[in-house]
Amino acid sequence: MTIEYFEAVLLVLSVSLLAYIASKKLTRRSTPAVEQYCLIYKLKVSNPEASERLNSLILERSRRSKASYTVLLSYKSGDTGALLLICGGRTEVFLESEIFESIVASTLSHVRAEKAGTSTPEAYQLVNRLSSLADSGSRLRPPTLQTSKTTSQYGIVRLGSRIDTPIPIPVYLNREDIEGHIGVFGSTGSGKSTTLRKISLELRRSGFRVIMLDWTGEHASYFSRLGWAVLEPKSIGLPIDTLLASPLSRQVLVDILSGALGLSEPQSFLLARVLEESKPGNLIDLISNIASWPEQSNWDREVKRALYRKIELLKYFSNKYSIPRGDLYIIDLSRIPSVRLRKAYALIFITSMYYKARSGMRSQSTMIVIDEAHNLFLGESSIMEEILSESRKYNLHVLYATQSPSIIQTRIFLNTNTKIIHALRSQKDKQVIQQAMSLEDSKLAILDKLARGEALVQSPTISEPILVKIDAGF
Ligand SMILES: Nc1ncnc2c1ncn2[C@@H]1O[C@H](COP(=O)(O)OP(=O)(O)OP(=O)(O)O)[C@@H](O)[C@H]1O
Ligand SMILES: [Mg+2]
Repeated sequence: MTIEYFEAVLLVLSVSLLAYIASKKLTRRSTPAVEQYCLIYKLKVSNPEASERLNSLILERSRRSKASYTVLLSYKSGDTGALLLICGGRTEVFLESEIFESIVASTLSHVRAEKAGTSTPEAYQLVNRLSSLADSGSRLRPPTLQTSKTTSQYGIVRLGSRIDTPIPIPVYLNREDIEGHIGVFGSTGSGKSTTLRKISLELRRSGFRVIMLDWTGEHASYFSRLGWAVLEPKSIGLPIDTLLASPLSRQVLVDILSGALGLSEPQSFLLARVLEESKPGNLIDLISNIASWPEQSNWDREVKRALYRKIELLKYFSNKYSIPRGDLYIIDLSRIPSVRLRKAYALIFITSMYYKARSGMRSQSTMIVIDEAHNLFLGESSIMEEILSESRKYNLHVLYATQSPSIIQTRIFLNTNTKIIHALRSQKDKQVIQQAMSLEDSKLAILDKLARGEALVQSPTISEPILVKIDAGF
């Protein structure tokens, strides 16, 4: 418990905090704006754990409050602590100081916060005095301001706040958590779709391209109010041409259509032959090549006609696929009247994005968002398995939600590095989650009791699962 330890903890967190404050345009040596008002606190900290919790509190308040926080370090022998400035409009500062003092008094028994001054010139004189002492090599060390973006310090996606700590500590997912795909699980009504929307918006803010496949249409109405483009599959067309281009992708197309449209073995076999031998370049060619395929027996004729009837359903979509413009859009799958066709469309769309990403046609980080993912993952999962294990190399990532983790294939699970588990009630689903996350029984028992929007979160950077209240105020 040395002074160096306190110093290290406070220094690291204060530097992060200052980066945040820098973005609020409070600079160390500049004269504050006329209306700027500052309160100065002397903080005395008597144990390292308290100093970490104090820093979390300051970070949290500086995000929530309109007032800005600046921490200046001040270490003298026998006296460990920090100087804190809360600045902003006079009313904001007074309000914030009351909140800050009352949280410190009620939750941080090893911290003393004393007001040390209240006026702007006084505060800034102090800042400048500390700066000049630091420059002359004294132990007083105000950290240098950083101008880097705050997100890199804390992560890209702000999920919400921890509910398993005495004070609510903000929780972020960083790039590594996001790029390894995100799975959101939970019983009906537990908050999955809300969490998907929250993460989608945060990703968008961080420059990701976000494409949401909206199975039920509930997200379309929400996001259209925010100005996201809502697209109808019928008019943008089916991106089948990408999959017709190579033997490998043609085989994947056979698998997708066999599963989604319910082709029998002979029908799948015939489809594979037509694709390989006639190499159609687009949907219309494919349909007419099936129609003109030679028939050698009655049996052939029946297989061919049945196949034709099923593939012809794809004519529902416009022949020409027009690549949607823009970097954020919702594809409203609920407009497709048949569930089989909806599934075929979604799988072809995702697979075609994957092949395009593989061929280097897209380098911008893209997130495909899939709600009600069991509709796509059930059955012909092999392409989804491949996408989840390979796509991150090509800057393509998946964020999905499902109420039925027990029907997700193990390989998909293993390749979902970030797991957000809302309330789960089915015993079978809980067992799957327990295995996948190596959860202790005590953590598993919590899953029954979570309220809406609360979740257990585990990710590459959050190795021990933590309890989080997802922030729905967006
Ligand atoms: N983080 C949250 N904070 C507050 N309320 C929430 C939160 N998440 C969800 N809710 C509320 O809970 C209800 C259900 O949310 P949501 O539709 O997201 O759940 P779901 O798991 O997707 O349900 P379903 O299985 O029916 O699709 C909604 O009324 C929503 O406003
Ligand atoms: Mg939902």
